[in-house]
Amino acid sequence: MEEPLVEGGTIRKLWIGETDQYRDHLLRLDAESRHCRFGGTIDDDTIRRHVDTTDRSGVVLHGFFVDGVLRGVAELRLLGAPFANAAETAFSIEKPWQSHGVGSALLERCLLTARNRGVQRLHMICLSENRRMQQLARKFEAELAFDFGSVVGDVETPFPTPFSVLREFVADSNGFAKAVLNAQMRMLR
Ligand SMILES: CC(C)(COP(=O)(O)OP(=O)(O)OC[C@H]1O[C@@H](n2cnc3c(N)ncnc32)[C@H](O)[C@@H]1OP(=O)(O)O)[C@@H](O)C(=O)NCCC(=O)NCCS
Repeated sequence: MEEPLVEGGTIRKLWIGETDQYRDHLLRLDAESRHCRFGGTIDDDTIRRHVDTTDRSGVVLHGFFVDGVLRGVAELRLLGAPFANAAETAFSIEKPWQSHGVGSALLERCLLTARNRGVQRLHMICLSENRRMQQLARKFEAELAFDFGSVVGDVETPFPTPFSVLREFVADSNGFAKAVLNAQMRMLR
């Protein structure tokens, strides 16, 4: 559940009070990645405003951390929460960590979370030139629909089972322990 990835990085949910790290991560993205993430050119203030909208229920953030620093995020938004049956997801991975399997691992975790909340369809929207994101969606058997410069990928999620709920619970318990440890390390520094 907390399997080591590239260069000792780990994946866990972000907890309340960690959105500052999300903002800093998005602001660090290079221009091309920022453009791909938001489907256009946006300024720093728009990123700050976007992050403010993630600090509420119906949004689940999974982060990829390397040495306690957030280097990648999958943002899952339940559409019509609290009784959502669809959700939207968007990814951002800082350049040095792209194409190392981080996006695939984040999408897997997002799908588990969506499934356990009764979501039946997960949408992903990206620019039509973003081949890597489309390849990522295809890996999870997404149906891709091309539409005026953007591509919408839809993945069907299976029904939740006690085992899928347990998998998320175990991952969250490990993630929480890691978050506490990271906070202590930062205080010691
Ligand atoms: C798009 C993104 C999320 C993909 O995550 P990633 O960690 O780089 O991708 P992965 O390493 O998991 O690879 C996913 C698939 O794409 C393939 N891939 C990797 N680099 C590729 C490239 N340059 N072109 C085409 N396919 C590529 C991989 O081979 C893999 O498929 P496979 O496992 O079948 O071989 C990440 O690169 C990113 O954050 N980019 C900037 C922001 C963005 O584009 N967001 C998407 C819009 S929401």
